[in-house]
Amino acid sequence: MTALFTPFVLKSVTLRNRIAVPPMCQYSALEGFATEWHLPHYTSLAKGGAGLVIVEATAVAPEGRITPGCLGLWQDAHTEGLRVIASAIKATGAVAGIQLAHAGRKASANEPWNGDDHIDQTDSRGWQTIGPSALPYGAHLPKIPAEMTLQDIERVQQNFVDAAIRAAEAGFQWLELHFAHGYLAQSFLSLHSNKRTDHYGGSLENRARFMLDTIDAVKAVWPTKLPLTVRLGVIEFDDNDEQTLSEAIKVVDIMKSKGVDLVSVSMNFVIPETNIPWNKPGFMAPIAARVRQECQLPVASSWSLDDAITADEVVAKEQMDLVTIGRAHLANPCYSYELACQLGVINASSVLPTQYAHWLARYRRPAALTRAE
Ligand SMILES: Cc1cc2nc3c(=O)[nH]c(=O)nc-3n(C[C@H](O)[C@H](O)[C@H](O)COP(=O)(O)O)c2cc1C
Repeated sequence: MTALFTPFVLKSVTLRNRIAVPPMCQYSALEGFATEWHLPHYTSLAKGGAGLVIVEATAVAPEGRITPGCLGLWQDAHTEGLRVIASAIKATGAVAGIQLAHAGRKASANEPWNGDDHIDQTDSRGWQTIGPSALPYGAHLPKIPAEMTLQDIERVQQNFVDAAIRAAEAGFQWLELHFAHGYLAQSFLSLHSNKRTDHYGGSLENRARFMLDTIDAVKAVWPTKLPLTVRLGVIEFDDNDEQTLSEAIKVVDIMKSKGVDLVSVSMNFVIPETNIPWNKPGFMAPIAARVRQECQLPVASSWSLDDAITADEVVAKEQMDLVTIGRAHLANPCYSYELACQLGVINASSVLPTQYAHWLARYRRPAALTRAE
């Protein structure tokens, strides 16, 4: 048995293996509603064998969408489309997760294939963004956000609560709060984007307040038997990394004391000028391992962990509990099954639904093609 293909239990939920398909925006929603794109997309990802499939960043408020095409859960009417998706994911044997998000100052952008930049001020598709301070991200996202009032903060926290209630009603079994990637919550935590002088700015305790209060509020409504998790950026790669990481570890410790069950360790993306070591495979693994070790909390992590040896090793070495594999699943929705084959898992096809597994168990895979020199 490989480490990657052992089950993982968190609260009342059992994942059939340690592979998660992470949230990946599809920019294909209409006014926050799921469209005909989403159901086959998530069904095919789930039937490919991963233990957990997390639905993309789903906005808790209309102004919290990254683009006009982002999913939403800010009204009851959004629930039905997501219920169908959650049910389809579960029917394959995977656990259905959802990521709730507010994009803050990075909202109101064009879809990546339409420029990935802020929608022009003169374009009626765009909207006023909000953030902890009236500071833009810069680069391709130059819009200046409105500094949030205390009422704004309260409202957005309530938006997270209402969306969490709807997510539970829709049948999701795993909730991830998106506190990473330079979006609203992350921008409260970072000194790059938070210059407030009230009790949401300055000290670490103040900068973490938005996240921590949101966790308390969501925890009060999310079913206690189901995992409540957070995706957190713990490093900016801006040459101030030790301070950022040790602050993040303190925040994760508090999250743990508040009942967060797992942290998905990711990057900050709060500023455009960074030195992210993109070409170093598995570069987040030692960072995730440090968070796991120091906080004694289960962690997931991501970013180029998708070759079979690396994915198995990071679990075997106890660097992380779950490996999230994104783009490889877009290229091949049955990528989890591929990994099982590559790692020589006995009865690898059993990660697939029986409609596929039965036939593949009886099928001898051709040897890998070798290119004639
Ligand atoms: C198309 C696409 C959309 C993404 N959308 C989200 C998202 O909604 N929320 C999020 O936290 N990360 C998002 N990400 C980041 C992924 O969750 C993941 O961390 C990233 O793709 C790195 O993993 P990989 O190297 O296995 O692809 C997205 C990535 C891609 C490729």
